[in-house]
Amino acid sequence: MGKIISIANQKGGVGKTTSAINLCASLAALEYKTLLVDADPQANASSGVGYNPREVQNSIYECMVDGIDARSCILDTDINYLYILPSHIDLVGAEIEMVNLEQRETKMKLALQPIKNDFDFIILDCSPSLGLITINALTASDSVLIPVQCEYFALEGLGKLLNTIKIIQSRLNTSLEIEGILLTMYDARLRLSNQVVEEVSTHFKNLVFETLIPRNIKLSESPSFGMPAIAHDADSKGAISYLNLAKEILAKNNLEK
Ligand SMILES: Nc1ncnc2c1ncn2[C@@H]1O[C@H](COP(=O)(O)OP(=O)(O)OP(=O)(O)O)[C@@H](O)[C@H]1O
Ligand SMILES: [Mg+2]
Repeated sequence: MGKIISIANQKGGVGKTTSAINLCASLAALEYKTLLVDADPQANASSGVGYNPREVQNSIYECMVDGIDARSCILDTDINYLYILPSHIDLVGAEIEMVNLEQRETKMKLALQPIKNDFDFIILDCSPSLGLITINALTASDSVLIPVQCEYFALEGLGKLLNTIKIIQSRLNTSLEIEGILLTMYDARLRLSNQVVEEVSTHFKNLVFETLIPRNIKLSESPSFGMPAIAHDADSKGAISYLNLAKEILAKNNLEK
């Protein structure tokens, strides 16, 4: 059975997409069949694995709003075992179009249910919002991974996110778990970075992943080549740290081969 993990934080620019792309690529490198679902109208995850969102025919939007079979929208990538269900700018409209639909919170779940067993992992890259698409993603997921940037105001909004997760757990998805909190863009030289690590670890204890994602230029430049860091520079600190995250998640879930 495939595990569905949403990568969510309504705070912008904390490393959601970078984590989604590189975690997926690392799981694929370890030969776990992985689907990256781009649940953000910005479509950064789609372009990050080499697709121009303007040229995408069918996206997650058509799956959710028109009920098109997700299988027919999935595209392969240059990386073995890695597939993408792309996004499209139209997804902005989906928020509005879905408002009056019945069972509007479960459209993503319905779209992903038939393909759940085709993959070992399905990872959803959410947008920086707690809107309907993100609610859909969390309702469809087994767990949520929360990236937190090692920066000032890192914890801002985290309470609201955890509260939203609680509401979803009580009303829409009783089996939703927190996969973990991932500290991103860590810079060992900065006292602030270390303070955030300390503060988050004290507060959230074993919810925090042991793997820290460093600030690394290869992670920020690889999307411009349309590829994950592991394909751009497999020996970079960034690529290695996401591989370690993948291994930590596999171990936590007793899924090592
Ligand atoms: N570990 C890192 N090292 C260096 N740069 C990083 C790292 N993680 C993310 N970045 C850069 O920071 C910026 C924001 O990252 P990213 O797009 O992954 O965040 P996001 O949470 O998905 O943003 P949004 O909320 O807009 O969807 C990007 O330019 C990205 O390349
Ligand atoms: Mg993003």
